[in-house]
Amino acid sequence: MSGAKNAALPILASSLLAEGKSIYRNVPALGDVRTMGRLLARLGAEIGEKPAGTMTVDTARITELEAPYELVKTMRASVLVLGPLCARHGRARVSLPGGCAIGARPIDQHLKGLAAMGARIELEHGYVNARARRLRGATIVFDVVTVTGTENLMMAAALAKGRTALENAAREPEVEELARVLNKMGAKIRGAGTSLITIDGVDELHPIEHSVIPDRIEAGTLLVAGAITRGNVLLRDCLPEHLDAIIAKLRAAGAEVAADGDGIRVRGKADLKPTDISTQPFPGFPTDMQAQMVAVCSVADGASVITDTIYLDRFTHVPELRRLGADIQLERNTAIVKGVDRLQGAPVMATDIRASAALVIAALVAEGETCISRIYHLDRGYEHLEQKLAALGARIERTSP
Ligand code: EPZ
Repeated sequence: MSGAKNAALPILASSLLAEGKSIYRNVPALGDVRTMGRLLARLGAEIGEKPAGTMTVDTARITELEAPYELVKTMRASVLVLGPLCARHGRARVSLPGGCAIGARPIDQHLKGLAAMGARIELEHGYVNARARRLRGATIVFDVVTVTGTENLMMAAALAKGRTALENAAREPEVEELARVLNKMGAKIRGAGTSLITIDGVDELHPIEHSVIPDRIEAGTLLVAGAITRGNVLLRDCLPEHLDAIIAKLRAAGAEVAADGDGIRVRGKADLKPTDISTQPFPGFPTDMQAQMVAVCSVADGASVITDTIYLDRFTHVPELRRLGADIQLERNTAIVKGVDRLQGAPVMATDIRASAALVIAALVAEGETCISRIYHLDRGYEHLEQKLAALGARIERTSP
């Protein structure tokens, strides 16, 4: 497995909390990571990307405090510089993220939390202006469980005066990983991985060296590829404890999934069974695996009901899967997937990171050739997925348009 995109992005942003050179290893070579690198460079940081998989961020000379629209519109996670800049430099100007293919994604919880910590928040010309001489500790109760909201406020609170309590916080492994990194930098954070996180602010943090955890969504995607192709695949460098909900659903679909040495092995079985899924915040079934499971269930022996409770409109992969012959009815945020005997290859279009992974997975078992366009979406979140699949026997190649 490669390093986790959704851990690497907040970790890179956290470098802004300290002055000096941070060194990160196992950083995946992804479009979104490059965007975060460009954003940090735009703020004045010096970025190094050698050797492959290592990224250095030197924040000795931060000269800008603005995350511009042209970068934020390509990657919402750019909002993760808001907390660190406001906490360390007393102000930040960050473009409000616009619309997104997977649905409404406001940042009201991020702003509510910063305001509770004493920041003055103004929205002006599509930008958030946040100002605070020094943030102060506060008790913040999230109205919805938000991953980057928890991460942004955890980073802000690390340099605030006094204690902050984050209640109804996200419990994702990437949040826990960020807390590990911040504590290594000198922060005082307890309870990450639970829904109550407590942070005692400190006056200063220092740069560190850190190796990023493996990507559980990449692992889940490859487990699904092994199951749908009736294959036999061993995943290395992954953390099984991050995959429980995904493994449980693959087993329910009839695949054999078990620990094997330091990895996880999946063996697909002849008949895939229908499986009902409702996405939830961690440790529930991740929304970032919903599209891939719709692809699996589209060739299962029966009907599956798949509901996305996190992103109600996250079904742009459905019309494309229908082009491959899938039988899927959509009712609000639920897909009723009736399994068909065989999918057929056809030209299809990627619309977001996980939708593109679902199209690749369906194409692996579709009769004939499938051509997927706009794969820059795939490259935003997967490191050389086609090479990893080709090494497992897939007949897949990247072709120029
Ligand atoms: C993170 O996005 C991930 N991105 C997403 O992965 C993932 O889908 C999502 O968490 C949910 O697991 C990164 O970590 C970089 P949220 P995030 O805030 O933090 C609502 C991928 O494919 N909400 O947890 O932006 C929101 O609309 C990406 O790798 C508010 O209402 O998601 C959503 O319905 C896609 N107000 C829900 O909460 C807020 O202020 C969860 O969103 C914040 C969120």
